[in-house]
Amino acid sequence: MSIKILIIGNSDGIGAALTRTLIARGDQIVGISRSPSPLSPNGPKHVVQDIAAPDYPDVLRRIIVDEGPFDTCVFCAAIGSGLKLHDLSQEAHVIEVNLTAMVHTLASLLPGWVEQGRGHFIGLSSLADDFYNTDAPSYTASKAGFSNYLLSMALKLRSQGIHVTNIRFGFVDTKLPKASWKPLMMTTEQAATHVIRCLNTKPMQLSVPKLAGLALHSIRWVQSLRVWLS
Ligand SMILES: NC(=O)c1ccc[n+]([C@@H]2O[C@H](COP(=O)([O-])OP(=O)(O)OC[C@H]3O[C@@H](n4cnc5c(N)ncnc54)[C@H](OP(=O)(O)O)[C@@H]3O)[C@@H](O)[C@H]2O)c1
Repeated sequence: MSIKILIIGNSDGIGAALTRTLIARGDQIVGISRSPSPLSPNGPKHVVQDIAAPDYPDVLRRIIVDEGPFDTCVFCAAIGSGLKLHDLSQEAHVIEVNLTAMVHTLASLLPGWVEQGRGHFIGLSSLADDFYNTDAPSYTASKAGFSNYLLSMALKLRSQGIHVTNIRFGFVDTKLPKASWKPLMMTTEQAATHVIRCLNTKPMQLSVPKLAGLALHSIRWVQSLRVWLS
């Protein structure tokens, strides 16, 4: 059955691969990003918008009225910024795009979903949410907040028929990850397949690949020990 899906951050990477797959199976997509959709002009409806701009909540509410109601929203947008101690100007911006804009997005969709007693919000987080990253603390802090917020909302909303899914990916082959070593890296198509599985099964959380999650968790354990010993 065809569903109507809002995808935030689908001009590139995992969001773009997901959009292609969902269109092929007949779903109706509305996308948002700062660049035009690579699938335009004959592709799905696309709104060019910076989700960190002050007018984003108003623009989004208008999209929901004009194009909704949406069955599902997949929040894929994110940026990363390596830590530069001589220039910290991007640190807060990373948190605005990755975390604050996600909170605005869910807040705009929820009133309609609560009224209907159904809805599904999927957010793309990271296995790095469980890790202290001295090279990119704003990215990992945004993902820690992202996962914590979505899981809290997942527990709160399930009894009202609204599903929230937090997907924690390891490395995916896009322009985003900057590490020189990217073990167990997935393709964007593989990542999109995991998102679609969550569309169907609606779990509260999915972490893939599991082995990478275990490895990062062990590093976090050593980091926590260092903090505790200090
Ligand atoms: N790739 C990985 O290794 C990896 C690992 C774990 C988790 N993830 C997560 O998976 C999600 C997708 O990542 P990706 O690798 O596909 O990244 P990507 O290829 O860089 O794509 C990011 C998307 O977000 C959009 N975006 C960024 N800033 C925006 C803004 N201010 N306003 C509107 N749209 C904005 C971009 O479009 P415009 O630039 O056109 O705005 C683009 O469509 C992210 O949440 C990321 O944290 C990725």
